[in-house]
Amino acid sequence: MNLDGPHNQSLPARRACPRSEPESLSSPRTTWAGRCRRAALEDQKGPTPLPSGEPGRTPGHRKSTDTGEPAGSSRPLARPATDEAFLSKTHVDGATAIKLFYEVMYRYSRAPWDIGAREELVSLVESGRIQPCRAIDLGCGTGANTIYLAQRGFDVTGIDYAEAAIEKARVRARDSGVQVNFIVDDLTNLRHVSGTFDFLLDYGVLDDLRLHQREPYLQNMLPLTHPSSRYLLWGFEYTMRWWERLVPFYDIPFYPGEVEARFGGYFEIERIAGKVDYSKWPPGYAAYLMTRKGEAQ
Ligand SMILES: C[S@@+](CC[C@H](N)C(=O)[O-])C[C@H]1O[C@@H](n2cnc3c(N)ncnc32)[C@H](O)[C@@H]1O
Repeated sequence: MNLDGPHNQSLPARRACPRSEPESLSSPRTTWAGRCRRAALEDQKGPTPLPSGEPGRTPGHRKSTDTGEPAGSSRPLARPATDEAFLSKTHVDGATAIKLFYEVMYRYSRAPWDIGAREELVSLVESGRIQPCRAIDLGCGTGANTIYLAQRGFDVTGIDYAEAAIEKARVRARDSGVQVNFIVDDLTNLRHVSGTFDFLLDYGVLDDLRLHQREPYLQNMLPLTHPSSRYLLWGFEYTMRWWERLVPFYDIPFYPGEVEARFGGYFEIERIAGKVDYSKWPPGYAAYLMTRKGEAQ
């Protein structure tokens, strides 16, 4: 979690989503030795471009000097495999601690990112680019964005795994006089959400997940979409500096190109905001508006 960031239920069987990716940059590798062997092999092989049209396939590694390439280039960038191995070793176990952090934060204080409906969302709605529809706020926290959408006529669901957040969100919705379907659920293992949504939003959640959780997140959110669903994704995005890699609970931002690599097989992607400034912390963020590929029904 980036502390400075601006940052009724039904129980269907989850729809199977094809996994074309035997091993991705986020997939846990069984042993440390195995990770090192694989990293060494990938070092020998050199970069593997992301095959277009192969959803979810992630590219092989590239040398760290490559990481300054701009997002949206034809060859999405990956963190070097050695970094992946290192980061997944040092950052995997942080997931439980982070959930606990959120519970405590929401229960006993006001989160610093709890600052009302977010700029990019508001401008998409006010401009009419996103019109009232069936929407879902993934990792809704105390519901600022969710309630904003409900107030503008959206039929909206909010999900968060922090019970304390959902309790606060329900009270806020009641106080605001709007109807929102708030659900406690884990975005990497959804059990209580069904159907598809026309508009999905994620403010500061996917970039907050450990690397090994990002592919499960994708595989859980895809069944919530249909062709032409829109998906607004906001997250911290910058190339990590060497010392940031040494901090065990450090949030791992999107690396430039990660969003294209993860989502490009499934969505048309438009980068609608973002900047990087290493004199600030966190140094950079980006927002993407995506449209699910496929024939609209
Ligand atoms: C930085 S906060 C952003 C909250 C909200 N989107 C906002 O903009 O105010 C990240 C949120 O994601 C939630 N979260 C993190 N991992 C999650 C997971 N695996 N499943 C569901 N919620 C998760 C946290 O509880 C937290 O509320």
